[in-house]
Amino acid sequence: MKSKRDLWSGRFRKRLDPEARAFSSSPEDAAIARHDIIGSIAHAMTLRRAGIISERESEEIVEALRSIYKEVSADAAEFLSGEEDVHMAVERRLTSMSPAGPKLHTARSRNDQIALDLRLYVRENSLRMMRGIISLQKALLRRASGERSTVLPGYTHLQHAQPVYLSHHLLAHFNRLERDFRRIASDMDRNCFSPLGACAIAGTSHGIDVRYSSSLLGFPRHFSNSIDATSDRDFVLDACYSNAVTALHLSSMAEEFILWSSAEFSFIDIPDELSTGSSIMPHKKNPDMAEHIRGLASRPISDLSGVATILHSLPLGYASDLQHVKRYLFDSFEVTSSLLSVASSFMSSVRFNRERMREAASDPLSYSVEIVDQLVQSGMAFREAHELVGRAVLKSLDTGKALSDVLSQAGVRANVPSVPEESVEMRGSEGGSSLESIRKQMRRASSVVEREGRELGAAERRYESMVDTLLGK
Ligand code: ARG
Repeated sequence: MKSKRDLWSGRFRKRLDPEARAFSSSPEDAAIARHDIIGSIAHAMTLRRAGIISERESEEIVEALRSIYKEVSADAAEFLSGEEDVHMAVERRLTSMSPAGPKLHTARSRNDQIALDLRLYVRENSLRMMRGIISLQKALLRRASGERSTVLPGYTHLQHAQPVYLSHHLLAHFNRLERDFRRIASDMDRNCFSPLGACAIAGTSHGIDVRYSSSLLGFPRHFSNSIDATSDRDFVLDACYSNAVTALHLSSMAEEFILWSSAEFSFIDIPDELSTGSSIMPHKKNPDMAEHIRGLASRPISDLSGVATILHSLPLGYASDLQHVKRYLFDSFEVTSSLLSVASSFMSSVRFNRERMREAASDPLSYSVEIVDQLVQSGMAFREAHELVGRAVLKSLDTGKALSDVLSQAGVRANVPSVPEESVEMRGSEGGSSLESIRKQMRRASSVVEREGRELGAAERRYESMVDTLLGK
């Protein structure tokens, strides 16, 4: 294909080498094509307000951009083919449609443009991520409510620690996701400012009103230093970090599913729709989706380090290195949102094997802390009681005698729980394992989900109405 004439080609005698063109172009810009156009519409309106273009020119440009928006929404990859990047592709198409097109790049540079596009992309996708988090939280809450009094061993070091209710365990995952939600919300709040008007590095001699463009784009604030505004990719790091933490949380949940589905645990049955078989062993049913979650979680984590590696040692001011944070950023959001969606299906449909969990939680040795606590309540020092019960445990293990018998033979008067529920109910402290505490945790979790839903709904409406207004809908 004969290469197109570059829009910056004035000072060059020769065209860019095709291999160099392919090497340096940005086909991944398909992900930010819509955002680029939204930003350009706001910019055209800002130029109009500053009197740099006329009312008629502004209308003509905005109308053309809106039709290009439809075109890229249908097939952005096709739209970008053979172009250096999305900014050039949009400007070239615009210029072919509107005689005023060549005026649009006044008081703007691709350097503030890309910073803006990425901020809009991050805003839109952070909202998507928050939606995904809420739907997984809802699934966890539903399942916790159905398994309120199902007991299973609580593990530390992956060894039986103390029995707990499954609801308690599921709500622990809920709390992790709650932090994930809040982390994204605070990223968005901290990063919510417009870089438009910073231009290449140093602002502009045109009298544009950056307050106006930022308010059109729904940003409550605008940049205060043009050098920082064009160089800053901290918001990219923040988004990648938040996604990486969510991915870590999901990988930990997936690991439990994998363990729990093994014959040794048999705590869960994975529905057929979410399992795969073996090409050679006809009996196999593999926890494939959970393994994919666990393995794919590596991607957002390495995306974060990819971005950090690019930013490391970069001097201030735009450099083409920055072009390459995009792939990591887009990958981070794509993968994390798919992890959230599969984890939600998994959580909604997995079958919990209550009998098996209860059986595993029924080892009286795992009630030892409750015995120690009783001795302490009757006046013994904790360390002494711990030692005494520890010796009784050892004797029970050596002789095979029940712990309660060993204790009563030693003259220790304590009520050894006879079922795991008794032990669980003894721990009524704040956030602890008793049913009363679980009820409180569930009530709190429901109000958290409700609050998150309201907060997200409002943010989504603000974003959509900003886009709709600029698109003239
Ligand atoms: N395509 C670039 C990116 O994605 C934006 C262009 C920046 N300016 C420049 N002179 N190359 O980061």
